[in-house]
Amino acid sequence: MSNPPSGMKKGLTQYGDQGFSLFLRKAFIKGAGYTDAALDRPVIGIANTGSAYNPCHGNAPQLIEAVKRGVMLAGGLPMDFPTISIHESFAQPTSMFLRNLMSIDTEEMIRAQPMDAVVLIGGCDKTVPAQLMGAASAGIPAIQLITGSMLTGSHRSERVGACTDCRRYWGKFRAEEIDAQEIAAVNNQLVASVGTCSVMGTASTMACIAEALGMTVPGGASPPAVSADRIRIAELTGAQAVQMAKDRLTIDKILTAKAFENAMRVLLAIGGSTNGIVHLTAIAGRMGFEVDMQALDRMGNETPVLLDLKPSGAHYMEDFHDAGGMATLLRELKPLLHLDALTVTGRTLGEELERAAPPFQQDVVRPMAQPIYPQGGIAVLQGNLAPGGAIIKQSAAHPDLMEHEGRAVVFENLEDMANRIDSDELDVNADDVLVLKNIGPQGAPGMPEAGYMPIPRKLARAGVKDIVRISDGRMSGTAFGTIVLHVIPESAIGGPLAYVQNGDRIQLSVKNRSLQLKVSEAELARRMRERPITPPQADRGYRKLYLQTVTQADQGVDFDFLRASEQRGTIPGNKK
Ligand code: FES
Repeated sequence: MSNPPSGMKKGLTQYGDQGFSLFLRKAFIKGAGYTDAALDRPVIGIANTGSAYNPCHGNAPQLIEAVKRGVMLAGGLPMDFPTISIHESFAQPTSMFLRNLMSIDTEEMIRAQPMDAVVLIGGCDKTVPAQLMGAASAGIPAIQLITGSMLTGSHRSERVGACTDCRRYWGKFRAEEIDAQEIAAVNNQLVASVGTCSVMGTASTMACIAEALGMTVPGGASPPAVSADRIRIAELTGAQAVQMAKDRLTIDKILTAKAFENAMRVLLAIGGSTNGIVHLTAIAGRMGFEVDMQALDRMGNETPVLLDLKPSGAHYMEDFHDAGGMATLLRELKPLLHLDALTVTGRTLGEELERAAPPFQQDVVRPMAQPIYPQGGIAVLQGNLAPGGAIIKQSAAHPDLMEHEGRAVVFENLEDMANRIDSDELDVNADDVLVLKNIGPQGAPGMPEAGYMPIPRKLARAGVKDIVRISDGRMSGTAFGTIVLHVIPESAIGGPLAYVQNGDRIQLSVKNRSLQLKVSEAELARRMRERPITPPQADRGYRKLYLQTVTQADQGVDFDFLRASEQRGTIPGNKK
């Protein structure tokens, strides 16, 4: 059997004459000065997500140059191409609204253009998941290159970094502990260089997950964006992509059930962002796997948080890199990992750990016997308020509030909250439970990171630092507090959350994994009957596609038609 077409001969444009299609393609590319010798090489696509709107990818030009060097040293032909780029603070209504669009763009550009392997350059929160989702569906050999974390800054000799410190200082400003001059000075220091947020937010979580999945070269998660190590990783990534093309090491050989289970372990052990669960679920869904949330919760019982990074701990990503990065963490987690999972190098995770530099004394990754937190950072809740489940990042929650019953103080949507939360008239005290509706996948739309509701100003002034908060939205991985998120089904499609009223009692028990609205079934049914809910709609365009096809958090907030058509099993628990 002959090999399928490769390099420039791959995926010819349809003119009804294959010979002419190749002739024309080569004529055009030669217009850019290429020789036949160059065009005969394996072609490595490089997804370029550099954008003036995305400072987290501000080193993209240097990374592309280094990837190209690696590709050419290994005998390939590098071809960079643009895709959508999304930055957290420059996407309206929210970056999550656009993640699936970026995944479609990535998938279709990989399919449409001739390439034998693809290097995915991503970093800012939604970009890595979008790229992995797209590449998983496209199916060719793919390798992730992370842009890397930003450097930390300094405010009055205190080390600061985005974005846990952004929230902390903003909280101080709201509580009138610091003035306008100081908050302006802090603003200059929080982001000290290009690169992704320097704490264990979603970007760092996804970088660690990408390496745990086997989708980066070893050590690819942690080097800072502006370091020589990061550039070396880029060169190695380019060279490895050529080898993957030659070996036809397609993504389905790497993104297996075992790889996803390893990634879930790592997510728990790093005290990773709750967003990581949604993204991992979406990527797994592209490969035909369902994530079993109850099993994830059980895995949490035996997976301690080992990484001492903000917001759960004290350090920043550059410290993690200095401590040996993922090799240090994975070595500690070894008994819990599938070491036979394959990586982009063609070697297994276990083989790569054997080859890694030897361990040394450091204080960022704790040993299993002395964890930061004895259980995985994320707990899965269930109850009549969240029949489909909800989650809480227990490692970032206040211990005194994890078993709590209080009176609901309800905000109908983001606008309602913005209008009233700082009012002195707001009837709220520290024992209450703040409820925010309509910030789920369809609600806002785009499931914004608004689940981290601010402490009402009058409570903040009185020194209240945490309060139980519940919503169907997400929160940034850089946030902290006793915050219940991803309530399923969301309120905008008529979930029970939609029917909570001011004064209802709500009981949270992290110990029992339960979230209960203390309202009788009959009363809840009456409220539902009296106020049926029509899900949001749009007249046209992407928003229409989004609202008609977006799934809930337990399916990764992916579009239903993008998920794999064939189911391969459940994670964890399927050893396929
Ligand atoms: Fe890009 Fe935080 S805003 S990683």
